Amino acid sequence: MSLVVQRTPDASTFFRGQTIFLTGGTGCLGGCLLFKLALKLDARKIFVLVRGSAAQAMASWARTMPIEIEPVFATGKVHLVVGDFTKGDFGIEPATLAELAEQVTLVVHAAASISLKAPLRTTIANNCIPTLQLAKLSTTFTKLSCFAYISSAYANSFLPDGVVEEKIYEMGDAEKEVSDILETGSVSRGMAHLSHLEGVAPYYVGKHLTERLLPSRYPHLPILIVRPTIIGPAISQPYPYYGPSGSCPISTYMRGYMKAPDSGIFHVSPYHPMGTNILDEIPVDLVANILLLHLLHGTRGIVHAGAQSYVPRTLSHIHADIRAFCPSESAPFTYVTDMTIEQGKYARFWKLFGRDWHFSNKATKPLLAVMGPLSVALEDHDAASFMRNRARIIAEAILKSKTKL
Ligand SMILES: NC(=O)c1ccc[n+]([C@@H]2O[C@H](COP(=O)([O-])OP(=O)(O)OC[C@H]3O[C@@H](n4cnc5c(N)ncnc54)[C@H](OP(=O)(O)O)[C@@H]3O)[C@@H](O)[C@H]2O)c1
Repeated sequence: MSLVVQRTPDASTFFRGQTIFLTGGTGCLGGCLLFKLALKLDARKIFVLVRGSAAQAMASWARTMPIEIEPVFATGKVHLVVGDFTKGDFGIEPATLAELAEQVTLVVHAAASISLKAPLRTTIANNCIPTLQLAKLSTTFTKLSCFAYISSAYANSFLPDGVVEEKIYEMGDAEKEVSDILETGSVSRGMAHLSHLEGVAPYYVGKHLTERLLPSRYPHLPILIVRPTIIGPAISQPYPYYGPSGSCPISTYMRGYMKAPDSGIFHVSPYHPMGTNILDEIPVDLVANILLLHLLHGTRGIVHAGAQSYVPRTLSHIHADIRAFCPSESAPFTYVTDMTIEQGKYARFWKLFGRDWHFSNKATKPLLAVMGPLSVALEDHDAASFMRNRARIIAEAILKSKTKL
C-alpha cells in the first residue's frame, strides 16, 4: 500500500457532511472519538456499535465519561447499533445493516480485544477475522469514502530495533499463515513461513496479519490504517487524564508496579544500558486527532500515531515517575544487557518496554502545525510534568483503595 495524502482543509465543513460507523465506542480511543465527532466536529450522524445492549453501553460511558456522555447524546446524532463483532454480520439486524449500507461515509473500526494474554487462535478469530468481515460488509456501503482500521505500531514487532516505516512489511503468504494458525492454533516451528512471528505476542501477530489481508482481499476499499504506539491518558479531551482502566498499558504497568514492586531488572539493548530507549506512548486525544486529520485529508495507507508526534520519553523516564511513588524499601530499577540475568516479572510480561523502535511519522509531520479542533500542536503542554502527575494520580488512587478496605 502506498501512502496518498490529499488536501481538503476545513474540519467543520467536512465532518458536518459525514455519517460514521464507529466500533469500539465504549473503549478508550472510541470514546474519545465519539466525544470529538459529536461535540467538537458536529458530525452529521454517528452509528456506534455496542456490545450486549444499549443499557450496558450507557453504564460503561457513565463510568468512563460521566459528565461528557449526556451532551454527546443530547446532540441527537448518536445512534446505537447493538451487535458483536464475533458474530456473522456483526450480529447487526438486517434492517440496520441496510441503513448503514445506504448512509455511512466513514467506517472507523476501533473495537478489539486488546488482551496480550489471549492465545493466538483466539486473537486471530476475535480480532483479525472480524476486521476482514467488517471490510467485506463495508464494500456494500454505497457512499463510503474511507475505511479506517486501528492497528498497532507493534504489528511489526518481529523487526529488529531501529526505524519502522509507515508501510506493510510483507513476509510471505498471509492467507496461508492465517489458515494455518486457525487450524493449528500456533506459530509452530515446523512452519518456516511463520518463523518470523515466533516469540511475537499473539495480539500483535493478529494486527500484522490483518494489515496484510485487508488490502489484498479488498483492493478497491479506500483503506486507512492507523498504528498507535502505546495509548496514554488524554491531555484534555474528553477531559484531562481520561483513559478507561486497563486501556492505557503504561498506567496499568505503573499501577501494578506501585502495588507490588519486583526485582526491577530489565533487559535492554547494549545501545541503551541506562534504559534510555524510547518507551513510545501518546495521549489518546492526540491519536484521535491524528486519525481524524487523516480522514479529513483523504489519506490512504499506513499512518503511525506515536511519540514522534508528541514527546518521546524513555523507559528510564517512566521508571523515574514510578519510583517516586514506590515503597522506599523496593529495589531500584536496574538495566542489564546480559540476557542470562533473570528479569523481573513485569519486564517478562511487558517485553516491548526494553526494545528500541523508532516509528516514522512522515505522514503526519506536514499536519503537526494544523490549528483548530484537530490540532496536535502542544502549545504550553509540559509532557514530563503531565506524565509525572499521572503517576501521582495512580498512587493516590491506590492509597484511597487501601484506606477503604
Ligand atoms: N490501548 C492501547 O495502548 C493501544 C495501542 C495500540 C493500538 N490499539 C488499538 O486501538 C484500538 C482501540 O483500543 P482501545 O485502547 O480503545 O481498546 P479498549 O479500551 O479495550 O476498547 C475496546 C473496545 O472494543 C469493544 N469490543 C471488544 N470486543 C468486542 C466485540 N466482540 N464486539 C463488539 N465490540 C467489542 C469494546 O466493547 P466493550 O465495552 O463491550 O468491551 C470496547 O468498546 C484497538 O484496535 C486496539 O487494538 C490500542
